[in-house]
Amino acid sequence: MHVDESDNYDYNNDSFDLDAAYAVETPDDNRQLYKNWAATYDAGFVDKNKYSYPKRIAEICAEPVSTTDALWVIDIGCGTGVVGVRLSELLPHAVIDGADISAEMLHIAASKVRSDANPVYGELSEVDLTLPITFAQSRYDILISAGTFTHGHLGPDPLIAVVSTLQPGGQAIVGINKQHFVANGFEQALQSAVGSGLITEPTYIEIQMYDEGSAHYGDVAIVAKFRKA
Ligand SMILES: C[S@@+](CC[C@H](N)C(=O)[O-])C[C@H]1O[C@@H](n2cnc3c(N)ncnc32)[C@H](O)[C@@H]1O
Repeated sequence: MHVDESDNYDYNNDSFDLDAAYAVETPDDNRQLYKNWAATYDAGFVDKNKYSYPKRIAEICAEPVSTTDALWVIDIGCGTGVVGVRLSELLPHAVIDGADISAEMLHIAASKVRSDANPVYGELSEVDLTLPITFAQSRYDILISAGTFTHGHLGPDPLIAVVSTLQPGGQAIVGINKQHFVANGFEQALQSAVGSGLITEPTYIEIQMYDEGSAHYGDVAIVAKFRKA
């Protein structure tokens, strides 16, 4: 499905259709989809569907890290900032930057504040991550992502490309929709990146994307953890 400016989908209806989100095909489709969806994403999708995936990814990221470390984090496909909000609660000294194709989603992320009233995010870059990475090179200690490596969004090539934003030894914690992971060769792409010396051997765990009680409970993601070599 290509999303058309003039389509008549009711994006302001709380019951956003996940099938519509999975049916996008191009970066322009994503731009248009999230332009329409940004204002209702947090309440109408995250809260309503018990979408716990972004928070869980933040928690997995923070588990092995000291809460006093001043780390520099990039949130890939940060959207409205659900990952960043949780991560900033767990790692208050982390500087969290974000990258996303949607100006409207980034606008909402920019409004999110920490408990000390400072912004959750530092630098927010409006970028199409299917294109060569220009916003940062070898900068970050941690790369985190939830919900962005999924049907119609980003595939394995952008995942390998964003590793360039990490410092050598930097840690990646990336959630990938399991069906998308299997269908689009993520494991092979990551293995090839191990073979070429770009990353360490990944470990994988499976997590629920929605809490019990959600209509989507049972949809799972693979979390790939690896380091830039
Ligand atoms: C389902 S949302 C996830 C947002 C957030 N990480 C979360 O967990 O709530 C997917 C995000 O991927 C972004 N996205 C889709 N295609 C993209 C692209 N080509 N480049 C950069 N971001 C993209 C969308 O704008 C959207 O904010």
